[in-house]
Amino acid sequence: MTQVAPRFAARSLAPQPEGTDGLFSQTWFPVCRSDEVVAGQVQGFDFLGGRVIVIRDDDGQARVLSAYCPHMGADLCTGEMIDGTVRCPFHFWRYDADGRCIATGSGDPTPPTARLFAFPTAERYGCIFAFNGETPLFDIPDFPDAPKKLIWKTGEYDREMPADPWVICCNTPDMQHIQVVHGISFDNGMPHDRVEWTPHSMVYEFDGTMRDGSAIRFRVGIFGANIYWQDGYIDGRWFGFVAPMGLPRPGNSRLFFTVGVEDDGSDPPAAREFLDAMYALEVHVATEDLPIIEHARFKPGTLTRSDQTLARFLQYLRDYPRAHPSAAFIS
Ligand code: FES
Ligand SMILES: [Fe+2]
Repeated sequence: MTQVAPRFAARSLAPQPEGTDGLFSQTWFPVCRSDEVVAGQVQGFDFLGGRVIVIRDDDGQARVLSAYCPHMGADLCTGEMIDGTVRCPFHFWRYDADGRCIATGSGDPTPPTARLFAFPTAERYGCIFAFNGETPLFDIPDFPDAPKKLIWKTGEYDREMPADPWVICCNTPDMQHIQVVHGISFDNGMPHDRVEWTPHSMVYEFDGTMRDGSAIRFRVGIFGANIYWQDGYIDGRWFGFVAPMGLPRPGNSRLFFTVGVEDDGSDPPAAREFLDAMYALEVHVATEDLPIIEHARFKPGTLTRSDQTLARFLQYLRDYPRAHPSAAFIS
């Protein structure tokens, strides 16, 4: 029987879901909000389909460590902080802030292999981040052009999203939806030729007009595969916004929102009011997107000229480095 070749070869533009072949994007994932971790306590969180603990060392610095005790596998989130060390609830082995076992409960010598995975950890924008790797590949983005004195407000979306962070991040290069869903018009057409790419980020700037007539000048971008970043002006006034997305388990995102505005001390209540207004604006913008993404079967197929930056972003994601060095520790 003659085989007839298909007329169109099936071609998937979609990057692989997080967790494919046991690998995850090598990026800074927010694990929790800063205010969820109190000095002297051990907090446990789901991360990359496994478990981690978050503690604060003697200086108050946050540390993200694998949760399962290498002795017999107890979850250290039910342990206690004793003199700056984590004490396992099962046989009282103790781990320092770098994850080294420094004592066993019985007095037996500590086995050299008894250690926790210590993630590169950073605390920014009201969140505690862990890098999925031994060494960070890039820095959490800053606001180099921001005014000097800033105040910040951090919160999170009221539920986990049933999508990988990178799926939600596809919003940023999706210039069609910025116009129709958010009602933003680009003053100089879609800014496809103004996108700056690195292996770990994409950023572009545009002037535009919001639905209510406000004039905006924004620099927006994605860092890694999960951090939305926005620096800009609304009616001439600066504000910054970061929406980092955590990955408790494949196919699920925890979304954090942080907004910053200037408070030069001349009128703190007015600065606070502007902060609240910009926070509410960003939450509103996010809630225009999230119900659509929540119910979508993300399947990029027929893209058009307006999708050229989105198409390149899908390639960026397909090329994005993936690894899982903590696999043996957190699972
Ligand atoms: S399981 Fe942790 S000390 Fe035994
Ligand atoms: Fe959007």
